[in-house]
Amino acid sequence: MRGSLNDIKLIEIPKVHDERGSLAVIEKEVIPFEIKRVYYLYDVPSDSYRGGHAHKEQQSVIIALSGSFEVVVDDGSTKKRIMLNKPNSGLYIPTKIWREIENFSSGAVCLVLASTTYNEAEYIRDYQEFRNQFSG
Ligand code: TYD
Repeated sequence: MRGSLNDIKLIEIPKVHDERGSLAVIEKEVIPFEIKRVYYLYDVPSDSYRGGHAHKEQQSVIIALSGSFEVVVDDGSTKKRIMLNKPNSGLYIPTKIWREIENFSSGAVCLVLASTTYNEAEYIRDYQEFRNQFSG
């Protein structure tokens, strides 16, 4: 079974805003899976290319906590480029979607909420292998 770009969505994270600033809250109801791990990318050079893999099991929500970057998602036949630049907007990516992250702004922080603990065996890091397994 292949992944589908139709299942990718932007999740609005509720926020409380007043003159002192904004406070965003991630509660389990807004995330479509149980969070098992949180990691983040920071100090990323602007010409860096991250991602470049798909997951057999992991679902993710990606949030630009600070700054901006672009996420390219690919289900094996169609690609879509999504700019993330709002700390209260999360990009939900289901399993079996190839993703690449690029064009990081200076100071960008990329937060990832993950549905699994880290397991290299569930990664597909070879694009041809991804296409062979999940496209069509
Ligand atoms: P990598 O998957 O290449 O990062 P990206 O999401 O940008 O593609 O991960 C970089 C390194 O960090 C790699 O050696 C694996 C390691 N790593 C962990 O040890 N634990 C983790 O939870 C993650 C996401 C990566």
